[in-house]
Amino acid sequence: MNPADGPATLLMALPKGRMADQALELMAAGGLPLPAGQSGRKLLLNSADGSMRYVLSKPTDVPTFVEYGAADLGVCGLDTLRESRRQVYEPLLLPFGHCRLCLAGPADAAGGPLRYESQPRVATKYPNLTEEFFRQRGVNAEIIALNGSVELAPLVGLADLIVDIIETGNTLRANGLVEQRVIMHSQAVLVVNRAAYHLKAAAVQNVIQRLRQALQAGGAANQDSASKSKASSGE
Ligand code: PRP
Repeated sequence: MNPADGPATLLMALPKGRMADQALELMAAGGLPLPAGQSGRKLLLNSADGSMRYVLSKPTDVPTFVEYGAADLGVCGLDTLRESRRQVYEPLLLPFGHCRLCLAGPADAAGGPLRYESQPRVATKYPNLTEEFFRQRGVNAEIIALNGSVELAPLVGLADLIVDIIETGNTLRANGLVEQRVIMHSQAVLVVNRAAYHLKAAAVQNVIQRLRQALQAGGAANQDSASKSKASSGE
């Protein structure tokens, strides 16, 4: 890291799993310090030069670590961030983790308008975004919050519909469900704690610049990111 950045150690929260691997690949491409040694089950990792520390957290917890300043920076999905309603800066969209948050249901009930009088029961891991989606349409839905395997809910009579992430569509198809509405497009995003953005400005800007350079060097991947980001903001 550039000595002009001073001694600030940055702590970055990464979501355990594939997105963390992709984030670390991008960090490496930008010449940023990576966790040293074997990670194993360790959840707090240091870079060899001590300038970066990494927390591996549940994906849904990344915005919490960053809003509270327990981590200066983080990488998470826009879907997770919007659902969390955490207040953080979002300086950079990242070209991975592409998926869409959708309303889906049994194939025989697909295609029609949302019925305002129907009071559907909707199972989801995204209760806040789901509540907002139905409220904006004047539909009085009953939201059933689940932690996973949401596609099960209509199959066993727990819910009429689901709101969930679709990436390949395989899980929906395998369970006889079809997509009805796209609620939002999502991809990975770099998030920054609001205080750290100012108090550790040089070190934070160094990370943003290096990631930006790595994305520009990636060319096509970056263009892909830009077009998906337009879609996610509804432009
Ligand atoms: C996610 C999501 C869907 C599935 C979509 O679940 O909730 O179930 O992936 O991916 P696809 O369109 O490529 O099939 P995840 O794998 O995170 O497991 P979970 O349901 O237990 O949360």
